Amino acid sequence: MPSPIATALDRLERTRVWRSIFRSGKGRSTLHNALVIQQSVFLHLFSVKVRKRMLSLGATWYLGTLTLATFLLLVVTGVLLMLYYHPSVPQAYTDVKDLQFVVSSGLFLRNLHRWSAHAMVFLAFAHMFRVFYRGAYRPPREFNWVVGVVLLLITLLLSYTGYLLPWDQLAYWAITVGTNISSAVPLVGDKIRFLLLGGHFVNANALLRFYVLHCVILPLSAVLFLAVHFWRIRKDGGLYVRESEPGAAEAAQTSTTEEREKP
Ligand code: HEM
Repeated sequence: MPSPIATALDRLERTRVWRSIFRSGKGRSTLHNALVIQQSVFLHLFSVKVRKRMLSLGATWYLGTLTLATFLLLVVTGVLLMLYYHPSVPQAYTDVKDLQFVVSSGLFLRNLHRWSAHAMVFLAFAHMFRVFYRGAYRPPREFNWVVGVVLLLITLLLSYTGYLLPWDQLAYWAITVGTNISSAVPLVGDKIRFLLLGGHFVNANALLRFYVLHCVILPLSAVLFLAVHFWRIRKDGGLYVRESEPGAAEAAQTSTTEEREKP
């Protein structure tokens, strides 16, 4: 006998409202499964079929998924932090101190955001090395590798722009040094520094620019490039398996025959 929850779910799935959102219902065949994936705005980024082996830990070490998980955690904790923080010179520093010593669980929230940021940088690099080690950057995946490099840059910029927001000595001097380094770029260096700081010094303009970059421009760019990244995995034929390369099957066959023929 089906459980009451299963019956309730079944009834829900047959309602007009449900069917107006999820048009193709549940998949009952491979073709129907494909239809379900293609008709959902969220699911259509992902592959219709996945090789079972590619879901095991050994294939990817789940490093891309873990990077995505830390990004989502950063978005949630970041939005909560925005409720307590004003990007203005008289308030920024005291807001962060209040968050640590006055707001309930504020210290936990801040530390969760900080440690997730460190973890995301580490995991993005680890994911890149894992992809490289497996040879998954080769055609037709070279464009997705480039998208990955953009994602890595966005991750580093997110980390860097977040650094100024506490508006303490560490933040002030780190941004002074960082933007001075950017001014060393030949020809356009000073212009880049001016653009980043909104002037010639690290002051209120710089704080506002870093805040907008950190909370709006960079996270939105990350979401956009992540969507392309996942969509490309699907278009490139799912996650990379060595045997799927043209000629790999014949090469494997030849080496087994040679092995067998050895005296
Ligand atoms: C914000 C950072 C990133 C996130 C959230 C992310 C997420 C993912 C996920 C979930 C996958 C599928 C599962 C896996 O391979 O673990 C994947 C695959 C892939 N990623 Fe990333 N990634 C990021 C950065 C990068 C970087 C820095 C590179 C390389 C420079 C890269 C290149 C690739 C490639 C080539 C694939 C396809 C691998 C295959 O076909 O087997 N990604 N990514």
